[in-house]
Amino acid sequence: MARNKIALIGAGMIGGTLAHLVGMKELGDVVLFDIADGMPKGKALDLAQSAPVEGFDARLKGTSDYADIAGADVCIVTAGVPRKPGMSRDDLLGINLKVMKAVGEGIKAHAPDAFVICITNPLDAMVWALREFSGLPANKVVGMAGVLDSARFRHFLAEEFNVSVEDVTAFVLGGHGDTMVPVVEYSTVAGIPVPDLIKMGWSTQEKIDAIVARTRSGGGEIVGLLGNGSAYYAPASSAIAMADSYLKDKRRLLPCAAFLSGEYGIKDMYVGVPIVIGANGVEKIVEIELKGEAKANFDVSVNAVKELMDACRNLDSSLK
Ligand code: APR
Repeated sequence: MARNKIALIGAGMIGGTLAHLVGMKELGDVVLFDIADGMPKGKALDLAQSAPVEGFDARLKGTSDYADIAGADVCIVTAGVPRKPGMSRDDLLGINLKVMKAVGEGIKAHAPDAFVICITNPLDAMVWALREFSGLPANKVVGMAGVLDSARFRHFLAEEFNVSVEDVTAFVLGGHGDTMVPVVEYSTVAGIPVPDLIKMGWSTQEKIDAIVARTRSGGGEIVGLLGNGSAYYAPASSAIAMADSYLKDKRRLLPCAAFLSGEYGIKDMYVGVPIVIGANGVEKIVEIELKGEAKANFDVSVNAVKELMDACRNLDSSLK
């Protein structure tokens, strides 16, 4: 059986890390596409030379020609610019919208059957624009945010409870911005919900509130520390989890930015919700009941995404 083909559109910090993970996990052959000349070829060669040491078989190719992504099973999009200290994800909108147009057209022409995972920020608006520009079916285009935001939440909770990250499950829904919604009631340690753990004296409401706030600004904390660019290890791992679920038809239930057609009372936009990812892409959108503060926060988050979509429409009249 031929190996899967994974096209990475954008070969920067996240793109390079994605290629490394694809190789190490033997998920398939890799095409690293970037507009920068030479760099994707250099990264592909460097990674290919790590293969004999690590013991993985994968063909890695760097390119600036969209024809090379032909027949890709998965495209992971990180093309664009990342944040600098003091910038919000929304500040990237103007530049990255133009990049999504070029990338969407490239995928439409050369890899229309791929499962597409968008990482470029501001995520919820960019994945929507990418789907519009590419014309691919909505079940084949998703955005990576919830897995990353949930991983950040899980890391902080595991530290607070002093237990393995493996046993901490957590849900972060809504848009991938400062208004994202970490849902405490659905976050657990081996099935024990966090509110119960507070009652059991494992933590306090104040500490959990502080963890929620830190999760919300988790990306910004890293941008501030790095001083140049944004997070890349955890974003790459998160997208690989989604690609893996698709390629192996695992049907994992993961929080992702998915196109809603009435679910959660929302139509025609991308928002972070739990979905099942399998061989058909988005197999199912899972509607959990959001109550009280979580529901109010979700609504605020959805409105923030709507505003970004309007900003995109003002910049590009082909977007409806
Ligand atoms: N087509 C292809 N690649 C492009 C294009 C384009 N039109 N425009 C820019 N690029 C490439 C750049 O040349 C660069 O190599 O995208 C790459 C982005 O890499 P980095 O600058 O290292 O950014 P990275 O940290 O990988 O983040 C990428 O993901 O998390 C988001 O906010 C982040 O939007 C940013 C994206």
